[in-house]
Amino acid sequence: MTDASRSMLEVRDVTCSFGGLRAVDGATLTVEEGSITALIGPNGAGKTTLFNVVTGFCPCQRGSVRLSGREIARWAPHRIARLGMVRTFQLTKALSAMPVIDNMLLAAADQPGERLVNVVLRPRAVRAREREAREQARELLAAFRLERHADEYAGTLSGGQRKLLELARALMARPRLLLLDEPLAGVNPSLGRELLRHMQRLRAEDGITFLFIEHDMEAVMNHSDRVVVMAEGRVILSGSPRAVAADERVIDAYLGGKHVPLEEIV
Ligand SMILES: Nc1ncnc2c1ncn2[C@@H]1O[C@H](COP(=O)(O)OP(=O)(O)OP(=O)(O)O)[C@@H](O)[C@H]1O
Ligand SMILES: [Mg+2]
Repeated sequence: MTDASRSMLEVRDVTCSFGGLRAVDGATLTVEEGSITALIGPNGAGKTTLFNVVTGFCPCQRGSVRLSGREIARWAPHRIARLGMVRTFQLTKALSAMPVIDNMLLAAADQPGERLVNVVLRPRAVRAREREAREQARELLAAFRLERHADEYAGTLSGGQRKLLELARALMARPRLLLLDEPLAGVNPSLGRELLRHMQRLRAEDGITFLFIEHDMEAVMNHSDRVVVMAEGRVILSGSPRAVAADERVIDAYLGGKHVPLEEIV
């Protein structure tokens, strides 16, 4: 049994079909507050679709999604983001023909300037929030060592830098729970290690909870507290990295059918 009071995200029996295909087929999982949880599974298992459903980008046809105890299934993505659950995309969404800094500002939370009435009636509040957002963006870009690229077009960044920008952009919304879809895919090993260190630091310093999809088993085993395994739209297993690494199905799918002593993975 999980302690409901410590659950940041509770997904119960969620289903999402495309035509006759059940991409997610009664998936159930829990993400504990303050944890780093990894979601693994073969290609086409339904991992990205599950992210899409819980963040409101795909319709939830059945089941329940609770964020800090609050039912959010079928809410719109922006409402869910405002409640603190923010996701990144498997394919980065940064706008190539826009400077890096503007990509960041576009992702800022609660911009009073978005409402015309505020621009007219509360111009000082709008300007103050814009200044604050710009400061926050500069700080994040510095933390991700992207500050010298602030005024360049996002399209000029390397694949790895775009992944860092994606993470920095998600942080502009001040999330409590961050969902990362394959943060390491296409990233060189040293940038990948940097990204993983950021994740640990953000959890330790800012208390952000993480759920990340990843195929890199070394990253999963070394950087998560808990691993959830999906196959054919369902969650087939979840537990500590140690327990999951010892499971026959995971050994068959990921470790070439060999029992590997954990010391060699971790
Ligand atoms: N918009 C869509 N329309 C139709 N079918 C879709 C759509 N999105 C996903 N699917 C199908 O749903 C299934 C699950 O796809 P999904 O992208 O969720 O898998 P995944 O676990 O993220 O895989 P990968 O590891 O390759 O990213 C696949 O069979 C996929 O082809
Ligand atoms: Mg995917």
